[in-house]
Amino acid sequence: MSEPTKTATLTVDGQSYEFPVLSPSAGPDVIDIRKLYGTTGMFTYDPSFTSTASCDSTITYIDGEKGELLHRGYPIDQLASKSHYLEVCYLLLYGALPDAAQLEDFESRVTKHTMVHEQMHRFFTGFRRDAHPMAIMVGVVGAMSAFYHDSTDINDPWQREVASIRLIAKMPTIAAMAYKYTIGQPFVYPRNDLDYASNFLRMCFAVPAEDYQVNPILARAMDRIFTLHADHEQNASTSTVRLASSSGANPFACIAAGIACLWGPAHGGANQACLEMLKEIGTPDRIPEFIARAKDKNDPFRLMGFGHRVYKNFDPRATVMKESADEVLELLGVEDNPILATAKELEKQALADPYFAEKKLFPNVDFYSGVILEAMGFPTSMFTPIFALSRTVGWISQWKEQIEDPGMRIGRPRQLYVGETARDYVDVENR
Ligand code: ACO
Repeated sequence: MSEPTKTATLTVDGQSYEFPVLSPSAGPDVIDIRKLYGTTGMFTYDPSFTSTASCDSTITYIDGEKGELLHRGYPIDQLASKSHYLEVCYLLLYGALPDAAQLEDFESRVTKHTMVHEQMHRFFTGFRRDAHPMAIMVGVVGAMSAFYHDSTDINDPWQREVASIRLIAKMPTIAAMAYKYTIGQPFVYPRNDLDYASNFLRMCFAVPAEDYQVNPILARAMDRIFTLHADHEQNASTSTVRLASSSGANPFACIAAGIACLWGPAHGGANQACLEMLKEIGTPDRIPEFIARAKDKNDPFRLMGFGHRVYKNFDPRATVMKESADEVLELLGVEDNPILATAKELEKQALADPYFAEKKLFPNVDFYSGVILEAMGFPTSMFTPIFALSRTVGWISQWKEQIEDPGMRIGRPRQLYVGETARDYVDVENR
């Protein structure tokens, strides 16, 4: 926590109150109003938290005006091009880039935890065959609390560490199993000789009847998708994880809560919704019709994959994702993919439209990710589970940071009550 540098004065009914102003290492100053209620008897009103800093954090910084995303200070484009997912996981979890020995040790620990308890296989079969893989992920990750009792004590740093490694290691296995279950194929066990992304691709696409060779370019693209989604400071699902964790809930329950929040189409579900939208548009000539709908106040339709609460400039992840889309489609020999052509033309026309310019609406990370994932062979229902597995490290890093903060207390927002005031109960026959 930084020391106050100046104060802010609040004047209500002629009475003034002083509040400390804290300066972050980057970003806008914050007014420390923790003593507001005690001093003034008033709350602040900030539904959807558009102006509220809910915690101190050293993990991720976003400058929405500049279109900048830093993990522990390192720009996302450098991490996406020079690093790889497990190294970024180490960076997010422990705060610094690992040296060669630390990286080897970390990768080895993650690799050795990729299998799930054999009894969990039976847990999967309790779901209906047509269940959405996200429904399975919410259930199975929550159920990990019932399988890994020896890493649920949040007050024990060793157990926290084991839970963190287990979650990062097992999430691809669980996501792949959710996929295999819904298509009626046998589960494919992880293999320790493969890297994280190759292992995930193999668990999704291999079948016992046939050998499966992972294409290294696809594995690199997969790894980059994981990296680009690894963390994004206090977004809705991360705030959900932090709020769940503030009550002392175990890590598996907290991450399951994050997965549930991520599922919605305004958040992680946008990649699925975006690809479905691009398919519905179908051909570039129908784009003006959809842009007109997005601008129509009486139509609930929005351009999926466009707009962001924080970015009011290009989402730096979208730029890398667009390059990846070109690379992957070229590799797969589908350069004239109609969905990619529609996406590019939609981006061009929307960016040239004053409505999107004035509201500072740019493509976000989800705009191109679906195009790549579909080209790789994933059905749309797997897009959000892949986001969830990538974001797990971000959730855990934020969870760990919060637990290690000595000032942590249970999260408990207040409200502006606009309902009935006290009134007497009326017996049913007299209503
Ligand atoms: N298409 C059309 N208009 C939009 C869009 C869009 N995609 N996004 C925002 N707007 C308009 C709103 O109608 C609103 O207009 P108004 O001021 O005239 O009422 C204005 O822009 C501001 O929008 P809000 O909804 O107030 O912005 P908010 O910060 O609450 O929402 C959000 C951000 C949810 C991402 C929004 O832009 C959206 O729904 N986008 C589409 C879904 C999406 O792509 N989500 C992924 C987000 S990134 C992620 O989670 C990985």
